Amino acid sequence: MRILLTGRTGQVGSALELSLAPLGKVIAFDRQGLDLLSIGDTIAKARPDIIVNAAAYTAVDRAEREPDMALALNARAVEKLAREAKSLDALLVHFSTDYVFDGEKPTPYVETDAVSPLNVYGQSKLEGERAIASSGCRYFIFRTSWIYGPAGRNFLHAIIAAAKTQPRLRVVDDQRGAPTSSEAIAGAVAHVLSRADTAKTAGGLYHLSAGGATTWHGFASAILQSTGLKTPLVAVRSDEYPVAAKRPKNSLLDNSKFGTAFGLSLPDWRQGLAAVLAAIH
Ligand SMILES: NC(=O)c1ccc[n+]([C@@H]2O[C@H](COP(=O)([O-])OP(=O)(O)OC[C@H]3O[C@@H](n4cnc5c(N)ncnc54)[C@H](OP(=O)(O)O)[C@@H]3O)[C@@H](O)[C@H]2O)c1
Repeated sequence: MRILLTGRTGQVGSALELSLAPLGKVIAFDRQGLDLLSIGDTIAKARPDIIVNAAAYTAVDRAEREPDMALALNARAVEKLAREAKSLDALLVHFSTDYVFDGEKPTPYVETDAVSPLNVYGQSKLEGERAIASSGCRYFIFRTSWIYGPAGRNFLHAIIAAAKTQPRLRVVDDQRGAPTSSEAIAGAVAHVLSRADTAKTAGGLYHLSAGGATTWHGFASAILQSTGLKTPLVAVRSDEYPVAAKRPKNSLLDNSKFGTAFGLSLPDWRQGLAAVLAAIH
């Protein structure tokens, strides 16, 4: 099996490069090797059975002032990727986000819930989802949330760095979600792709996030506790911590569809955090 992977320098991409290795030949690209804004004939030449797209425009706040860039990468480039997958009869594996929802639902979101993004990034990811779904290619779209991991810029590293340099930390306590490690996502995707029936599957849209629920403040508190950092932590409301992009109050995803289809659910977010901290210390 030939698996083409984009975004190998990213959080999920770097974890996938390892987790997919046992399944076949992984042809992994960074941005220089395969710029999604100018695909050319790189993908066709690689003759992939599966295209795993871990590349994306992920700067949520910057997207508010760079909507064209966000849309170019998260929607139009994804549309081209889907066309490429269709013409090569390759399975496309893609990632999307809880930010396609407005967060007003009181319970975790299921795949069929109405979408209504609050920010440019969420809108651009939604347009990417729609482009794939209408392309006629075989695909999996995994919507996930609050990704962190040993590599890359993320909340975990930001909290550890801030706790070492600042007298106290202010972290929002009114957005709920499930911090999900890049390793857990990559392991689950490898599990899906390892099933003999998957390569020819029709696939579909699945929610895939860690178990349990917390807030950014709860996540920060667990990080400080696990690392022994004693910096005082202050809970604030979102409106006391202004950022460019509005975030949903409820980011929780219901993962039952994935669990039923693949007999697997990601562990509780606290277990994921312990595993990532063990890997980096
Ligand atoms: N991060 C989250 O909390 C979160 C939550 C929900 C869903 N998601 C989705 O999950 C997926 C993986 O996210 P992540 O956190 O692993 O992303 P990430 O760490 O920000 O990595 C993004 C990757 O995309 C690459 N890239 C950017 N522009 C590119 C271009 N023009 N051509 C080719 N590659 C390009 C980056 O390369 P460089 O290293 O060169 O910049 C990097 O390898 C994305 O689809 C994202 O939307 C993320």
